[in-house]
Amino acid sequence: MTNTSTKPIQSVQWHDGKLILLDQRMLPLETNFVTLQTSEQVWEAIHSLTVRGAPAIGITAAYGLALAAEQFVGDNFDEFKHYVHQQQHFLTSARPTAVNLTWALERLVSILQAHNDITEAKSALLKKAHEIQREDEHVCRSIGEHAFLLFNDGDRILTHCNAGGIATAKYGTALAPFYIAKERGVHYQIFASETRPVLQGARLTTWELQQAGIDVTLITDNMVAHTIKTKNINAIIVGADRIAANGDTANKIGTFGLALIAKALNIPFYVAAPLSTIDLQIRSGDEIPIEERQAREVTHWHDKAVAPDGTQVFNPAFDITPHHLISAIITEKGIIHDNFEAELHNLFENTKGAQTK
Ligand code: MRU
Repeated sequence: MTNTSTKPIQSVQWHDGKLILLDQRMLPLETNFVTLQTSEQVWEAIHSLTVRGAPAIGITAAYGLALAAEQFVGDNFDEFKHYVHQQQHFLTSARPTAVNLTWALERLVSILQAHNDITEAKSALLKKAHEIQREDEHVCRSIGEHAFLLFNDGDRILTHCNAGGIATAKYGTALAPFYIAKERGVHYQIFASETRPVLQGARLTTWELQQAGIDVTLITDNMVAHTIKTKNINAIIVGADRIAANGDTANKIGTFGLALIAKALNIPFYVAAPLSTIDLQIRSGDEIPIEERQAREVTHWHDKAVAPDGTQVFNPAFDITPHHLISAIITEKGIIHDNFEAELHNLFENTKGAQTK
């Protein structure tokens, strides 16, 4: 299926009992969609980066669990529950770093406690997946509204990877203030670093922002320090895959380096993320599992080799930015400038009861 419309694309869609994903591996050359009908296909889509970005993989996994539940045959509720838990663990294993995956699946499974009828439980799981997707759109909009307050008309802002609309239900996290600025006639000049090895910055952020008519300039990853100095970049803003209780942040490989450069050149370094990306179970970044991906992502571009055969490769997909390099964390509940450990804890205390499980 190919897209011909100019409306912002929803990367995760549910139609007639099927999960439809924008194939993010093929952008910007092809705007294709894939249709998934089994949890194995959903696992593969998350693992292969067909869908990527922390909130989008959480939403996808939630629909994947609803799909799996729908396919259960039998009338014993305990067996159904056991099967749903197995499917939860299977889908959780698709990627280790973004906590949104675990978070979304746990939210679905927790509603089984309120049911004892299989048909009702199946539709409750699907309803919850829809709710997580709808909620994420509002959450991203709020992140954007808060982050918008950090910037001024005419600012030049650098971002890394793709923390945009296609990585979430809509708007994105780090890119959300750019959409809000555009709506309000405020102009920012955005610089996107290409984000080796799979080029989420070059392929996805530029494509997404161009579609929205937002001013974006692409640079390679090794041009960042020079660009900040010569183009007077005002700030860096990135998304996150998991934020530990002390504010240490896992995000796309290269983020830590950007934070060090921001510190050295004395510009603010912002992290924008929903509460669903904050993991208070993990005290510091040392405990966050970092995904290592296959060597081929580094040695090849599509089918073309860019390194000699048999080259040894280290390919971590994420790194950890220590909290002391982060100027502020922007969530849907507001902006935290310092004292991250206590303030992150307070965010959850103040939200207790507000979130439906
Ligand atoms: O490997 P990816 O493309 O899933 O990595 C994505 C990122 O690192 C994003 O910055 C993060 O998930 C936030 S998306 C709103």
